[in-house]
Amino acid sequence: MNFTIDGVRIACDVAGSGPVSVVFVHGFPLTREMWRPTVSRLARRARCIAPDLRGHGRSAASDAVTITRFADDLAELLDALGEPGPVVVCGLSMGGIIAFEFFRRHRARVAALALCDTRANAESPEGVARREALAAAVLREGSQAAASAMIGTALAPTASATLRDEVFAMMASNSRVGVAAAARALATRPDSFPTLPQIDVPTLVVVGAEDAITPVDGLVDIQRRIRGARLVVIPGAGHVPPMEQPEAFAQALDEFLDGLAGPATGGPVARG
Ligand code: MLT
Repeated sequence: MNFTIDGVRIACDVAGSGPVSVVFVHGFPLTREMWRPTVSRLARRARCIAPDLRGHGRSAASDAVTITRFADDLAELLDALGEPGPVVVCGLSMGGIIAFEFFRRHRARVAALALCDTRANAESPEGVARREALAAAVLREGSQAAASAMIGTALAPTASATLRDEVFAMMASNSRVGVAAAARALATRPDSFPTLPQIDVPTLVVVGAEDAITPVDGLVDIQRRIRGARLVVIPGAGHVPPMEQPEAFAQALDEFLDGLAGPATGGPVARG
């Protein structure tokens, strides 16, 4: 279904039902399609809401965007979907960065967080320059410039050629204006480290054991700074565990949802 949010068409898949709603926020420069394997497994127990962020997938692009605008788009989308209550926000990489901002700006709407293969730091000066260069290349050459830059590190070395092709095509399918705007949003993202000790909702931290973009150490650091957060490391996955190891990823989320009614638990867990 499509909604007009802040004057921009936002496409969104909604599937399943249950006592809890989960908003799935994709990474850069991916689309809502990355969550298909997760949604197909969790729709039996949760209302699964998977939007294309503006400038990605079937959503329209705006020339410029910020992490704040992405977060507010989600809040307005929840309004449009009639979701007044708190939801679980599950974000991967850029989606996790947006989840931090959503928590800061819309705290009352957050029941729990699932932070996957993400980072809490603001961008470094070198990173800003790299993202600016990527935005310029994408505007010049199209989104395949971003796909080419990222596909080598996005997946675990053992990923199949079929999956590699699928992820490349997903990245390359995006609007060049949208991808350039998102690269600049990542360049100007806020520092989320001060937010971590303020997180007072149940939190799951997930990372692929072979993530070369946001490696395990960074996610361990994030988990340690969030009271009661649980860490799950997914073997055989790189930066996109929901697509690389769909069963293990969905199981981790499933168990997290099971535990939402009970006490929070800490400590690392390996999931095969
Ligand atoms: C993502 O998956 O969202 C990107 O890897 C984010 C990033 O480049 O930092």
